[in-house]
Amino acid sequence: MISKATIDTVFETARVEEVIGDFVQLKRAGSNFKGLSPFSDERSPSFMVSPAKGIWKDFSSGKGGNAVAFLMEHSHFTYPEAIRYLAKKYNIEIEETEQTDEEKAITDVRESMYLVTEFAKNYFHDTLLNVEEGKAIGYTYFRERGFTNETIKKFVLGYSPEVWDSFSKEALGKGYKIEFLESTGLTIVKEDKLIDRFRGRVMFPIQSMSGRILGFGARILGNDKKAAKYLNSPESDIYHKSKVLYGIFQAKQAIAKQDNCYLVEGYTDVIQFNQSGIENVVASSGTALTPDQIRLINRLTKNITVLYDGDAAGLRASIRGIDLILEEGMNVKVCTFPEGEDPDSFAKKTTYEDLVLYLENNAKDFIQFKASLLMNEAKNDPIKKADLIRDMVLSISKIPDRIKREIYIQECSRIMDISEQVLLNTLAQLVQKDISEAGKKLKQDQKAFEVVKNDEKIAVEKIDVLYELERKIIEILLLYGDKVEEFEDVLLKANEEGEIENTIERKEYKVYQRIYLSLQEDEVELANPLFRGIYNHLINYYHQNETFQIEQYLMHLESDFSKEVTDILMIDEQQTLHNWEGQHIIVKLKDQTISQYVSETILTMRWFLVDGIIEELKASISSEVDADNSESMAMAVDYSKLINSFSKKLGRVMSRYN
Ligand code: CTP
Ligand code: MN
Repeated sequence: MISKATIDTVFETARVEEVIGDFVQLKRAGSNFKGLSPFSDERSPSFMVSPAKGIWKDFSSGKGGNAVAFLMEHSHFTYPEAIRYLAKKYNIEIEETEQTDEEKAITDVRESMYLVTEFAKNYFHDTLLNVEEGKAIGYTYFRERGFTNETIKKFVLGYSPEVWDSFSKEALGKGYKIEFLESTGLTIVKEDKLIDRFRGRVMFPIQSMSGRILGFGARILGNDKKAAKYLNSPESDIYHKSKVLYGIFQAKQAIAKQDNCYLVEGYTDVIQFNQSGIENVVASSGTALTPDQIRLINRLTKNITVLYDGDAAGLRASIRGIDLILEEGMNVKVCTFPEGEDPDSFAKKTTYEDLVLYLENNAKDFIQFKASLLMNEAKNDPIKKADLIRDMVLSISKIPDRIKREIYIQECSRIMDISEQVLLNTLAQLVQKDISEAGKKLKQDQKAFEVVKNDEKIAVEKIDVLYELERKIIEILLLYGDKVEEFEDVLLKANEEGEIENTIERKEYKVYQRIYLSLQEDEVELANPLFRGIYNHLINYYHQNETFQIEQYLMHLESDFSKEVTDILMIDEQQTLHNWEGQHIIVKLKDQTISQYVSETILTMRWFLVDGIIEELKASISSEVDADNSESMAMAVDYSKLINSFSKKLGRVMSRYN
């Protein structure tokens, strides 16, 4: 694990504008920077970076956060990967903390295996480019397949010499242990002989999302029918076949940007597509698609286009994958190639423009695809047609989203020429039967739908002063929470003559303490549930931590909170647009101290709440004609006095309506 001290140093050192500047062209705009969103294709900039606050916001996609969040979103790093990247960028030495012996053993093993696969990748690549045998056999093979030098480098293709132990010997000589040569599957140990598993083959390194070498695919040269065409690394602590997608490292940015992922079968399909200029492509490497693989893509986009060979086996394989993709809540299209072609061979003889056109024209929605595929057989056979329809509805039933399901039912009804009602009935039966996963998902989805509806209502009703005030309070806590400021307290004290009088006392508080104590004194809870959650979280954080840094704080926040917090901080940049002063929502003025700003905000909030109570009292008084209203009236008068004192302090007349 990376030590907390290192993480702190990274956060202190990293400048958000520098980190993002490596990926996005930023232009100064006042105290901020602006640029084109890296998450969508846009012409006018809606991407904003605030160096002062150390955060960014993409108004086109709604994403936002600190430098680390940017790397996680943009480059799809995990949190530790992002920290390591930043440490490297800023030359910060990474200090690892003690792990338990067991944890240590596991990471040590895995790290040692990665060292071996990394070495092997370089060894095979170097052999291909610089050693006679590699150049003559491996390099020539790839060039004959039409791969350019650039492509060979991009995918770090390699060659393993036709010698029993050439690689293993080299690795041992460099100090790598037999144990890890064996556990990565690169070396087969027989008695005391070492055998290179992939000897005499061209090598395709299989990389993780972040570029680490997990294993290898290795193709035999020529068409020896007896030997397997491809050999792959065996399952190991670092290589789980069902969880990797070939090409994901090279594809991830293009997938996110294009908001679509092409899924192919083979290594060479991926490589040829890349060479043709289409980068958002990954391969399941010949295995049936797994839910883990689909989830890898789901992190980047909701849309998959399955590209399969034009043969029958290819079609069957694509059909199996469709339902799995639908179950993950993703959208799936299918595109087939002419008989006898696979994506590799087709791309090789097609220009980029024609390839793009072909994909656009031939990618069918899964419903259309199923229909076109089975329609020919089923056309004149009512029983087969009924089976086909049931099959389609079964696929539709896998879709977690209710609205989408209904749209597909309409589509199916149109294509198959059968009434929607019949299809809906069939769907209902299927959904009911499937109490397991899909059923559960469906219910969650419906609940979520209801929640959204309610939230919308709340949002519409409460875009008012209180909402903005609560937002201000969160903003103050975020920006100034740990600042020490002098505040005025009005105390009732007995003077020397024994008379009670107001005295003003000045005392230092941290801003968060002041806010916390004031709200507690008034017994006020924030009304907006999200703000309340963030408020409680922030107060706890301040109670527990000496210092506060927005970037660091954001990192430990749940995504709901973190999105809202980023929004609050960024919206502030645009506050001049809102004319908030006219609505009593205080905007901090240049010459105002933080303490004045905080006091005014709290006071305005008090005024607002008390004013609300008076309104309620008034309402109750008028509605009970015969009742004894004296108590309520007395309270209303008291509260009104309070209101006047607030107005005096704030130096302006307050009114709910203006
Ligand atoms: N595959 C495999 N083992 C095999 C055959 C295939 O692992 N014995 C996997 C490989 O990942 C391969 C993919 O399945 O890329 C698709 O197989 P195939 O279509 O036969 O290979 P191509 O990619 O077309 O290979 P090539 O063009 O080099 O013949
Ligand atoms: Mn092929």
